[in-house]
Amino acid sequence: MRCNQPADFLSPDPHWIFYLITTTMKFFIDTANLAQIKEANELGILDGVTTNPSLMAKEGIKGQDAVMNHYKTICEIVDGDISAEVISTEFKAIIEEGNKLAAIHPNIIVKVPMIKDGVKALKWFTDNGIKTNCTLVFSAGQAILAAKAGATYVSPFIGRIDDGSWDGVQLIAQISHIYKLQGFKTEILAASIRSALHIVKCAEAGANVCTCPLDSILGLLKHPLTDIGLAKFLEDAKKTM
Ligand code: G3P
Repeated sequence: MRCNQPADFLSPDPHWIFYLITTTMKFFIDTANLAQIKEANELGILDGVTTNPSLMAKEGIKGQDAVMNHYKTICEIVDGDISAEVISTEFKAIIEEGNKLAAIHPNIIVKVPMIKDGVKALKWFTDNGIKTNCTLVFSAGQAILAAKAGATYVSPFIGRIDDGSWDGVQLIAQISHIYKLQGFKTEILAASIRSALHIVKCAEAGANVCTCPLDSILGLLKHPLTDIGLAKFLEDAKKTM
């Protein structure tokens, strides 16, 4: 969608108004691996971290204290939103667990699954000033519910949608269209990203955030003509010495 600065301020292009009131896409890293989090953070482009129980298990984090300490360590490395997921599935337990997670650090975002009690909990956290990320979202209907409950972020899993031969990026575009039309404030956090191309496509489709493995972020750097061009510049620079 192109957006031109209006020549006539009395009848501005609606796209221009939308451009003015929205922010640029954020980059989160989708891992619990501290070395990768540090590497992405050192690039200077990192806005946050997302984790989930599978990513924590992959790092060998065991026991509630270890899990809480790991989140605390991540918060100390990255100054941005850090999603920490509840493993409870019943309303009262989700609230109790979410409160404990939120108490770890002011940057913690409580990640809640898209289930009936999860929606109730999202609304409770919203009413009590706790930021949330609604996870395991695979349809526009689920994204509408999450937004109605006031979720800070909604996480459509685009790679897993692609795995089932549906179009994950298309879902991002559909949710973005609905949220703009309806004025929902929930930010679209494209998750389950599998490649650098996914990031570019999600940016085009209107994602507010991409949460990506380190490889996909670094994949954005790559172009063979950059490597060839740099080699030539460095070779020619020798002639100037
Ligand atoms: O953020 C959700 C993400 O971790 C899921 O990714 O690759 O397991 O589908 P994946």
